[in-house]
Amino acid sequence: MTAPEGTPARGWLCRPGFEDLLARELAACGGEARTVAPGLLAGNADARPPAGGWAFAVADYPQLAPFAGESVNALGGALADWLAEALRGETVDAPWPCVFTAVDGVPGLGRRAAAVERAFHEKLARRLGRVARLAVGEAPATPGRARGLFVLLTGFETMFASRDAWLGGQRRMADDPGAPSRSYLKVEEAYGLLGRQPEPGELVCDLGAAPGGWTYSAARRGARVVAVDNGPLKGGALDHPLVEHLRQDAFAFRPRAGQAYDWLFCDLVEEPHHVLRGIVEPWLAGRWCRRFVVVLKFGRTDAVALLQELRAPGGVLAHLAPGALVRHMHHNRDEFTVAGEIR
Ligand SMILES: C[S@@+](CC[C@H](N)C(=O)[O-])C[C@H]1O[C@@H](n2cnc3c(N)ncnc32)[C@H](O)[C@@H]1O
Repeated sequence: MTAPEGTPARGWLCRPGFEDLLARELAACGGEARTVAPGLLAGNADARPPAGGWAFAVADYPQLAPFAGESVNALGGALADWLAEALRGETVDAPWPCVFTAVDGVPGLGRRAAAVERAFHEKLARRLGRVARLAVGEAPATPGRARGLFVLLTGFETMFASRDAWLGGQRRMADDPGAPSRSYLKVEEAYGLLGRQPEPGELVCDLGAAPGGWTYSAARRGARVVAVDNGPLKGGALDHPLVEHLRQDAFAFRPRAGQAYDWLFCDLVEEPHHVLRGIVEPWLAGRWCRRFVVVLKFGRTDAVALLQELRAPGGVLAHLAPGALVRHMHHNRDEFTVAGEIR
C-alpha cells in the first residue's frame, strides 16, 4: 500500500470521448494536460479558467493526490488516514461533500468505488466520528468551488483524491414518463446551471419545440409556453392548456409588440453561427427575453474555435449577457448548452 505518492497534479474530469476537446480548451487557456484515464486529464497548474468556467470540464481539481492499494480496505483506510491528517487544525462543523466517482469504461469499477466508499466511512467514523456524520454523498448542484473530498477511482487498485474542486454543474437528470423526448433532460439540467427554473405564470418561447420536451418541462412548472415548430407536439406537450403551438419558422418568429418573454428556449438542429446570428443576437439585443437556454451544435464546427467566439470580449454574450455560461452538459451530445440572463 502506498498513499499518497508522487507529486499531486492538477486534474480535470470530462465526459469520456471528449478528452481531446478538453485538452484543446485547456491549451487555449495556457494549460497542458494528458489523458490518464477515460475522462480524466492531468497536467500543469497554469491553465487559467475563462470567466464562467470551463466548457468541457465537469470538474477541475487543483491537486489530485494519487493512491494505490490492493484491497478495498487498504484504499479506504489510507484515504481516511490521509483526510484525518489533512484536517488537523481545521474545524468541520457543517455538512461537506464527500463524492466517490469511478471513471467510465471499466466494468465493475462503480461497485468497487462504492465498496471503497464504505470502507473509508467505517475508518473515518472510528477516527473522526462527528466529521464522518457530516459527510454528504453528493456534489453541490450549482456550479462553482467546493471543499470536501472528491475521489476518483481509475482502476481496481488506483484512485486519486482532492480536497477542493471547481464543479461545472453537470448532472444526470431523472427522466419523466410524460416528457415526449430525451431532450427534456437537457433543459432540466440547464436550470441547475442558472440556479433558476420557469415559475408559474412566466412566459416561455420555445423555438424548435417539437416534439415538446422543453415545452413540457416549462408547462409542468406552470409557465405558459409559445412553442414554435412546424413539427407536431407529442406526449405531455400535446394539447397542454398552457401551451400555444405555432407552426412557424423559428428564425422569422418575432414577439408581438410590447410582449416580453421571461425565457427563450432554443434547441434547433442548425449550424451554430446561423443560430447565433439569426436568433441569439436579435433576441438578446432586442431584450425580447430575460433569460435564455440555447443549444449550439458543434458537430460540424471546430468546437474550441466556437468557444473562443462565444467568449470573445466583443461578442454578443460578453456584451449583453456577461454572466452567461457555456457548458458541455451531461445530457449534451456534440453540442453546448448556453444559459444566461440579459444584463
Ligand atoms: C432537436 S429538436 C427539438 C427537441 C425539443 N427541444 C424537445 O425537447 O422535444 C429540433 C426541432 O427544431 C425544429 N426546427 C428546425 N428548424 C426549424 C425552424 N427553422 N423553425 C422552426 N423549427 C425548426 C425541428 O422541426 C425539430 O422539431
